[in-house]
Amino acid sequence: MPERAPDGSIRRAENQSRTGEAVADVKRVVVLVSGHGSNLQALLDAAAEPASGMAVVLVLADRPGAHGLERARRARVDTAVVRPADHPDRRSFDLALRDLVAAARPDVVCLAGFMRILGPEFVRAFPGRVLNTHPSLLPAFRGAHAVREALAYGVKVTGCTVHLVDEEVDHGPVLFQSAVPVEPGDDEDRLHERIKQEEHRLLPLAVRLLAEGRVRVEGRRAQLVTAEEVSR
Ligand code: GRF
Repeated sequence: MPERAPDGSIRRAENQSRTGEAVADVKRVVVLVSGHGSNLQALLDAAAEPASGMAVVLVLADRPGAHGLERARRARVDTAVVRPADHPDRRSFDLALRDLVAAARPDVVCLAGFMRILGPEFVRAFPGRVLNTHPSLLPAFRGAHAVREALAYGVKVTGCTVHLVDEEVDHGPVLFQSAVPVEPGDDEDRLHERIKQEEHRLLPLAVRLLAEGRVRVEGRRAQLVTAEEVSR
């Protein structure tokens, strides 16, 4: 018999997929959001695919109004909010966030439009397991206004970067990049929408590969290995 939650919904066992078949080793993904959450949605959709092998187990936001929280609730994923204003300083905010994420036992932690810089306490707690997506071809246009700055600079091509998170902002080893041409008449929103389409394609793929242990990092270089090589 399926277990029922207090609201009557069916609770899936951790080792069952949405369709009910047993899944040997479902990878646990925690997603951090601040806003709209379209990248989170891409992850939720990918996780809902039969045999995806991954489950989003917790969505955390730094503000209660983040639309991503609503997307998570609709997908019946646990949510939590950690507000910087509720903490005396950045370090205690980082520690609160770290402890909540750690309690969810993630295989991968994914920053999907999370607009806070995470301190060393957080990053060190999940070595090689934190991913971020950034709307530029790094190392160009780091920071919070990458699309606006690329347009202002007049570049002809920009794009997105999915990378591992280290202790510097928008800096860790690159997993995937995709180029997006700037078109005449682009404004920030229009260009960002096209960039996001690429992020929605690459981020779920990167999360899955990292969760499966298929990413090897040497220095700045992240390389994919085959499934057979994972066990070696
Ligand atoms: C994405 O472009 C991400 O790269 C950037 O913020 C945007 C978030 O979009 N950091 P959404 O909230 O996933 O729609």
